[in-house]
Amino acid sequence: MAITFNEQTKTFYLDGKDMTYAFRITESGYLAHLWCGCPIGHDDLSYHNARGRISFCATAPGGTVTSANAYYVFHPEISFFGTSDYREPSVQIQTADGDRLCDLLYNSHEILPAKPAINGMPSMRGGETLVVHLKDAYSDFGADLYYTVYDDASVVARRVVFVNGTDRPIKLLRAYSFAFGLPGQEYDVMSLQGSWACERSPEIIPMHHGVVSIDSKRCTSSATLNPFIALMTKGATETTGRVIGVNLIYSSSFVLKVEGSCLGDTVVTGGINDFDFTWNLGVGESFETPEAVIAVSHEGLGGMSRAFHDAYRNHLIPKKRVFESRPIVINNWEATYFKFDTEKLKAIVDAVEGTGIDTLVLDDGWFGKRDNDKSGLGDWVVNEQKLEGGLKAIIDHTHSKGMKFGLWFEPEMISEDSDIFRAHPDYAIGKPGRPRCYSRTQYMMDLTRKDVRDYIVNSVNKVLAENDIDYVKWDYNRNVTDAFSVELEPEKQMEFAHRYVLGVYDLFERIVNANPNVFFEGCSGGGARFDGGVLAYFPQIWTSDDTDAEERTKIQYGTSMVYPLSAMSAHVSAVPNHQTNRITSMATRADIAHLGATGYELDTTEFTDEDREMVKAQVEEYKMLEELILKGDVYRIDSPFNSGFFTQAVVSKDKSSAMLTVYRRLSDPNAERHRVCLAGLDKDKTYHIEGLDITAKGSTLMNVGIVIQYGKRDFWSETYIVTEVK
Ligand code: GLA
Repeated sequence: MAITFNEQTKTFYLDGKDMTYAFRITESGYLAHLWCGCPIGHDDLSYHNARGRISFCATAPGGTVTSANAYYVFHPEISFFGTSDYREPSVQIQTADGDRLCDLLYNSHEILPAKPAINGMPSMRGGETLVVHLKDAYSDFGADLYYTVYDDASVVARRVVFVNGTDRPIKLLRAYSFAFGLPGQEYDVMSLQGSWACERSPEIIPMHHGVVSIDSKRCTSSATLNPFIALMTKGATETTGRVIGVNLIYSSSFVLKVEGSCLGDTVVTGGINDFDFTWNLGVGESFETPEAVIAVSHEGLGGMSRAFHDAYRNHLIPKKRVFESRPIVINNWEATYFKFDTEKLKAIVDAVEGTGIDTLVLDDGWFGKRDNDKSGLGDWVVNEQKLEGGLKAIIDHTHSKGMKFGLWFEPEMISEDSDIFRAHPDYAIGKPGRPRCYSRTQYMMDLTRKDVRDYIVNSVNKVLAENDIDYVKWDYNRNVTDAFSVELEPEKQMEFAHRYVLGVYDLFERIVNANPNVFFEGCSGGGARFDGGVLAYFPQIWTSDDTDAEERTKIQYGTSMVYPLSAMSAHVSAVPNHQTNRITSMATRADIAHLGATGYELDTTEFTDEDREMVKAQVEEYKMLEELILKGDVYRIDSPFNSGFFTQAVVSKDKSSAMLTVYRRLSDPNAERHRVCLAGLDKDKTYHIEGLDITAKGSTLMNVGIVIQYGKRDFWSETYIVTEVK
């Protein structure tokens, strides 16, 4: 049994794969966090919540004079404003008479065999679930805390449902998804920061007194900061130490906070960003927060990443697609940008015949009036002047070559210069009378409105219904400004950011469900919306517009902190690279792109016979390794952030095979060799490394290591295949 409750000690133990999460009901009825980490015994841990005298602390509400200043120093599972707990609250309400206090106490609990889905929002599937019902001591405002654990992933998924059981409306001023605490303050905090073309760089800072806050106010999860933090015990590394990662399955404005409090402890909270947020909770209504996934590792950051990868592959990414062989695409964007016609596209397809590339993705520019990025968005009608014979001509040609056909959309956007904007300027987000902000010369559709969503669903589904389309690339190239909907009442305007993303999920749901045979890929000006919310609908996301192999080692390294390799679209593109002007070899570009859902994005009509042969060999090798990319465990060995190398192993679950990718940034006059200690192998199994002609025990390969002789060439790389010898 994964979830147990000890009646005597009033303690809940949630045992997942290789982890325990525990908390108890205190004598006063609060939920006190006890443990989140490696598996522990079901012991009485009440001593954990020491009772002490703390200056400037009040009693619990209703406490006696003699108990003044004697406060239980516990870590709340949900924390609220108004009592003597001055640490970050995870909820704040305001009642109709202005009262902002609440005092959420244990009422009852239930254990469900499987987690109910969240209404209109993505979340992980299944898993035994504990629901603890809390109620305000002095009103019928309540909160249901959901906890789910899994026997195949070291994570606990948490969320809250706030319930207004009172007879007057309540405003939720803050409605986070979770709170928990850790003893002491000896932690570092990792975030994934970035911007366009350099997404998800790990940044580690020491926590401090006060609050470390990681957030987005963009109505999207953003390239700036991913909805992720990791708490690392001081000295934790890639392979050692206790690490707790938190990732929100959410694609709108969020916040994650780590507070070093005056009590000498650490409090972690987060969820929907409460900046520019107020939710009106009518009588009898409830509000569901997004899900927070808390991954636990006692094997450093690597263990945390593998916990997230297992959780997302087994319980989040669409079941039908997650372990399925991925399309190997040729995307025309970097080959043509907006300048293409039917003949050019046909030539791109013809040029890959026999290489194993199996899908053409026709990118931006096929619809409306769209010869640059200044017009046409929202008019999802093929531009037959540009594409002679319509989509049909190029689709039929692609299919006749035995390939699949994919199409780019940016459904959430609207250009000022478009037929739809001319007919319905109010479809765009913004306050009439205030000029809107352009970004990439476009506006955004007001997805809080059902009629706008219906327009988008109908026009995208129409294209998909009328054409034989196998693949959709769903782009999103700017962030919200001018947050205002003409349809929302004034008091609901601060619901905008959350309502926007509920609209996004509604579009995903309705378009994906109506097209079960279409493969969907997410995208956002590169990888600016790379999150669990998107992955719940789309099995892979374009990782970055930066396709340079050197840059990609960093971007993919950072992304793998949380997200599985199979979720990262990675393409071999042309050189000199369009973003960095750097020249790397085709072999190196493929080695790096193969550490994800691979593809190509260059003008294949310029291929020489030799190029074609090389691509063919690369695709063959990828096919051989794809099972590892889809299902294997990732071990990051050398970091491109602190070494001249990027080395990564991917090992099969049964440890019978692995791939090892080694990348050397710059050549050097003397060294030319690098010792690599493999990771993740079975110490007792014997392995053969192809190409190096080494046969040795796992223990030898992981401790003594191997020596890689790299060439005197910048940006050198090699992929080695490691197989068990029986
Ligand atoms: C974004 C995407 C690119 C491409 C362009 C098209 O930048 O990340 O891959 O689709 O839009 O406009």
